[in-house]
Amino acid sequence: MIEVLILPDKKKLKAEKGTDLLTIINSSGIFMNSTCAGEGTCGKCRVKILKGGYKSRSAQFLTKEEEKEKTVLACLTIPESDLELEIPYSSRVEELDILEGEVSRQELEPSSLAENIFSPEPIVEKHFLELSPPVLAEPTADFERVKTALLEKGCPVKEIPLQLLRRIPYILRGAGWKVTVAVCDGEIIDFEAGNRVKENYGIALDIGTTTLVAYLIDMEKQEVISTASSYNPQIPMGEDVITRIIQVEEKNSMQHMHSSLITAVNKMIQKMILEKNVSGNNVYILLAGGNTTMTHFFYKLPPGFIRRSPYVPLLGSAVVLTARELNIRISPFAKVTALPCPSAWVGGDIVAGVLASGIYDFSVLSMFVDLGTNGEVVIGNKDWLASCSTSAGPCFEGGGISSGIRAISGAIEKVRISNGKVTYKTIKNKKPLGICGSGLISLTAQMISERIIQRDGKFISGAPGVTEKGFLVVKGDETRYGKDIYITEPDIKNLINSKGAIFTGIFVLLKELGLTIDNIQRFYISGGLGTAMDIKDAVYIGLLPDIPLDLFVFLGNSSITGEKMCILSREAKNITEEINKKMTYIDLSSNSFFMQEYTASLFFPHTNLDLFPNVRKQYEK
Ligand code: FES
Repeated sequence: MIEVLILPDKKKLKAEKGTDLLTIINSSGIFMNSTCAGEGTCGKCRVKILKGGYKSRSAQFLTKEEEKEKTVLACLTIPESDLELEIPYSSRVEELDILEGEVSRQELEPSSLAENIFSPEPIVEKHFLELSPPVLAEPTADFERVKTALLEKGCPVKEIPLQLLRRIPYILRGAGWKVTVAVCDGEIIDFEAGNRVKENYGIALDIGTTTLVAYLIDMEKQEVISTASSYNPQIPMGEDVITRIIQVEEKNSMQHMHSSLITAVNKMIQKMILEKNVSGNNVYILLAGGNTTMTHFFYKLPPGFIRRSPYVPLLGSAVVLTARELNIRISPFAKVTALPCPSAWVGGDIVAGVLASGIYDFSVLSMFVDLGTNGEVVIGNKDWLASCSTSAGPCFEGGGISSGIRAISGAIEKVRISNGKVTYKTIKNKKPLGICGSGLISLTAQMISERIIQRDGKFISGAPGVTEKGFLVVKGDETRYGKDIYITEPDIKNLINSKGAIFTGIFVLLKELGLTIDNIQRFYISGGLGTAMDIKDAVYIGLLPDIPLDLFVFLGNSSITGEKMCILSREAKNITEEINKKMTYIDLSSNSFFMQEYTASLFFPHTNLDLFPNVRKQYEK
């Protein structure tokens, strides 16, 4: 065994000899950037060795200077003795301070609320029963007595887990025949002494490829009482779903992929129930929504065929398990389910978003776009829904951008440039750490209008603020870690590629359906790129189509909103099944028109300015 001391965290770890540093660090709970999942190809897992012997194959990725100061790639380095190392900030997944909030639909769009009100009918109901004890003249069996009383309350039941059934006679007699019964879908899932109807909780869980967000919901009061978030612990096994599927197939790591996720979910649940003094035994439902791959990992289902043509997932509809079966630490017979996934590339998170937006119910034609690593686009109305997915890359979540970070506190979310002078706003007004998706869009729009970059994303030589390294946004002495925050030409290129993929997805989907952008009456945007996203800027750079700005509605994390709705209303949950059945998936991966249009979109706002008639006037000013 060898001992590794990690600084500045002061974490000491023991590991078997021959174990690489990335594996050792991952076991400490510190999240490191490792896009290639330890394959030694992304060059992101840099650490600095301070003391001790090691063997490393990382030289090809490092500068002479880095080699001299003993920087190595953790995944390609094996300690040969006890070691002391430092993980620089730039190698870490940013600190845990993810924005959990949704944008309230009430705040955004009061006029359309009537179209989206669900009857409040929690997925789990609890009933207090005051039963008359049996006598010789009326010796009805215990369970029949309970069933009859429930039926009288309008709650017919058919099933009960055997372990629970065995406890009933003792609970009934111990409680003087006054008991509370929890029922879900005609099955008794809990049986308690006394009146406990008020203790009825559920968990909504958004399983993102990068982050997990959970709500603890009081089903009796119909409100969210606590929230929690965490990085997805699968990040060290690849930052995108394809890398993770390959890991599962080639390294046989399904068990780890699944159990690390369940452990993180349990930690979030623990945090929320402790905070609100709620017993885990009174949490009766966990309803999750994630992309199709995450949903497969959640259930521990083989995901391999998702990435192979014709891209068929194993699971398309919702499966209901118990908490006990999935090792989730809530009431043992609580129901655990994930929202259905309409296709390999459109998952339950999008079904939840479509539910939250209400577009499945509108008579007018509406569009829903989720801006993430995959840009999912859904169009339709109350009669039909069609969807597609484009690979946008991680730049809206801060990936692939030299100073990019996720929408966490300290992320620059808005930028203004005037005469070369930059002013900015950060999330929660903290010292700047980097630029999140909304900040990147804002900064780019400003650089175009201030003539700092051209329409192809290249810097205009001699423009104010442009140095050899790129455009200086914030000097190191103002930032949290003393490092300059820059934007470079490759960063802008990445943004062009991402915005091009999203816009082309929208454009080609419309074309495939024989529609044009003018047919869209409402346009919903979802995603974790920061709630401050300025729609005007997004249209100006060509990410979103040039339609009247009042047609756009920004929903924030619509996935968790939709999952919450399902827990609070059976009607909403049933609608997700309808959305799933109704949605047709249109595959763009083999669409030659898509490639042609994509290339045309790699300009600000587009090579064809006729597609942006209002924005065109601003560019031509
Ligand atoms: S080089 Fe990618 S994780 Fe080490």
